[in-house]
Amino acid sequence: MRRFLTSSALIAALALVGAPACTPAGGSTDSGQPSEDAAAEEAELARYMANLQRWTHKAALALEARNVELADFYLHEVEETVGTVQEEAPEYEGYPVGELTGELLVPAVDSLDTALDRGDWPAVARRVEALQQACNDCHEATDHGFVRIDLRDLPNPYAQRFDTASTR
Ligand code: HEC
Repeated sequence: MRRFLTSSALIAALALVGAPACTPAGGSTDSGQPSEDAAAEEAELARYMANLQRWTHKAALALEARNVELADFYLHEVEETVGTVQEEAPEYEGYPVGELTGELLVPAVDSLDTALDRGDWPAVARRVEALQQACNDCHEATDHGFVRIDLRDLPNPYAQRFDTASTR
């Protein structure tokens, strides 16, 4: 009986952990009442940004640990999210977010990817900084300069290892 209770408690706990972390879009600037479509697009942008932050953070941790395979994986996730922003939320409060993404973020991600493919670690380090700059340049350009991304000396808040199996 005790065993049963324990395992059902465990299942309940797992269900909780597994529940979608329903990211509340919160914090959307409430200036006036935009049309429902625009409001939905803006809520989505906030969600994509949260994803972008997560993938970028994880990519940076993997790069710091020189884990090529894992870094590559996360850079691909970044690229996919970038594509999603361009398709699903090309405009935000009148700003051409899709175009800005193409101008600022895409080249930064591409050149980081190239440096990684070459295994050129000094270039990787410089390009991580350039990526951080691209994020912040666009925040400035879209009147969100107060959202400042910093990819240096990142802590690892994840229940995940970023080093490679061989260095464990
Ligand atoms: C095309 C312009 C643009 C680019 C490029 C861009 N952002 Fe944003 N970002 C925005 C805008 C606009 C918002 C405000 C969205 C909102 O909350 O409605 C935002 C908000 C955010 C937020 C606040 C939302 C949250 O979840 O805390 C984070 C974090 C963020 N961006 C991370 C990043 C990262 C990391 C990058 C680079 C990898 C990046 N952004 C690149 C325009 C951009």
